[in-house]
Amino acid sequence: MDMKTVTNASAAWWALAAHYEKIKDVHLRTLFSEDPGRAQRFSADGAGLFLDYSKNRITDETLRLLFALAESRGVTARRDAMFRGEKINNTERRAVLHVALRAPRDARIEVDGTNVVPDVHEVLDRMAGFAEQIRGGSWTGHTGKRIKTIVNIGIGGSYLGPEMAYRALRPYSDRGMSFRFVANVDGADFSEAVQGLDAAETLFIVSSKTFTTLETMTNAATARRWVVERLGTDAAVARHFVAVSTNEAGVRDFGIDTVNMFGFWDWVGGRYSMDGAIGLSTMVAIGPEHFRDMLAGFHAMDEHFRTAPAERNLPMLLGLLTVWYNNFFGAQTLGVMPYAAHLGRFPAYLQQLQMESNGKHVDLQGRPIGYQTGPVIWGEPGTDGQHSFYQLIHQGTKLIPCDLIGFLQPLSPIASQHDLLMANLFAQAEALAFGKTAREVAAGGVPEWQVPFRVFEGNRPTNLILADRLDPHTLGALVALYEHSVFTQGAIWDIDSFDQWGVELGKALALRIVPELDSRQDAALAHDSSTNALIDRYRRASQARGN
Ligand code: F6P
Repeated sequence: MDMKTVTNASAAWWALAAHYEKIKDVHLRTLFSEDPGRAQRFSADGAGLFLDYSKNRITDETLRLLFALAESRGVTARRDAMFRGEKINNTERRAVLHVALRAPRDARIEVDGTNVVPDVHEVLDRMAGFAEQIRGGSWTGHTGKRIKTIVNIGIGGSYLGPEMAYRALRPYSDRGMSFRFVANVDGADFSEAVQGLDAAETLFIVSSKTFTTLETMTNAATARRWVVERLGTDAAVARHFVAVSTNEAGVRDFGIDTVNMFGFWDWVGGRYSMDGAIGLSTMVAIGPEHFRDMLAGFHAMDEHFRTAPAERNLPMLLGLLTVWYNNFFGAQTLGVMPYAAHLGRFPAYLQQLQMESNGKHVDLQGRPIGYQTGPVIWGEPGTDGQHSFYQLIHQGTKLIPCDLIGFLQPLSPIASQHDLLMANLFAQAEALAFGKTAREVAAGGVPEWQVPFRVFEGNRPTNLILADRLDPHTLGALVALYEHSVFTQGAIWDIDSFDQWGVELGKALALRIVPELDSRQDAALAHDSSTNALIDRYRRASQARGN
């Protein structure tokens, strides 16, 4: 618990710290045995998702104090300011309106006195028209062939959401087409993505909010060369490239006709953008109707977050529980384990969402913070993780709260395996919470010397999130659930969850180092001795390979 260094802690914060001292050793076994109504009381529904949060190390008093903390930190007031379009992204002086990307046509959300909802729908309609042309075959490549493969070039928020959503919703996608993603500036990423492709049947979506990101611009230039070399003319670019960006001039300079550009706005953060134009590849894959179902799922969760009372408000609960473990139990990480193979990239998506948003060291006034902010987010699909790192969660010395996500209906035609998958999900939550005592182990006939090794302490907290099936609506609700949980955490910590200055230094240093790697360079290096030696070693290796 890092409370000793908290400088601006409120009474609500100190009350939680005192409460933690009372509850820190109480076992979930006790909490459940003393309270038969616990599972029912500590669960809630919203936007088609069910959250069982009863296997957390909390009591009614914990919740009361967490809600008091939220109140004292002005979480709901800040939430309402976001929905009103106020410039709550303090350091960039911007509104934070990803909620407008999924607002219904007749909604009204203003930024600087202008209703932005019609613009949102104008872009969605254009995206739908384009997606239908590709899917229906009326958009053809330069040689007149139908487009069969879409390659999305983008990184960070311009990649993780589209790739995650494509994988999640693959059963709803056009199986006659293939979708590939290039993010890494390592040329291997591009080479692998275009393996076996016919340029005449391939369309690149260059996705970049700024249209200046080094990785994306480099890969986009490589893609253009790849197309022009294969189709023999610059004129091919027009039929094989479209762009998603806020930077019209940048798109034009790259050589993409802005007629084929799908825009968004500075009030959409990159990691909050998969439901707008950045989702173009998703829309082509699943079709406009399914995409609109996804937006409806996002919107349903927005409305839930905006209107549900705290004790039934899923994002608020998730956010507050994260704060509880992060700041009072000293948990450093949060595991997210989807029991759905299609959600394989969901943890990676959440890493950017959570860690770029809440990995901050100063408050909104720029003052250093004396308490922990965002936890490390990680995870893999269950049941894969069970056979690798769950050992540490069950019997290691670290407290790792986990969100476990499952679906009542199978998506796979091999439905018979679904019982096994779900049995594992429920079993893990049970095992983590209740463990196995030495007496229980011994009663199973285990030799005495082996008992300590086979004891499960339990008392490992989990949230269990259940939905009927993984479909576009559910995915939208699930993503919005985490967006608003991140928001809640950020409001409690009094940080700007919508800037990302922490990515700048590395980018600037890389640009300085690029020319220094040229092996013909022999100008003295002026970095630290370690960096100098590494650059020197690389130069020699380049010389040896004749570059
Ligand atoms: O470097 C971080 C970042 O700015 C992310 O916030 C963003 O999602 C990503 O780079 C890509 O940026 P862009 O969409 O402008 O290419």
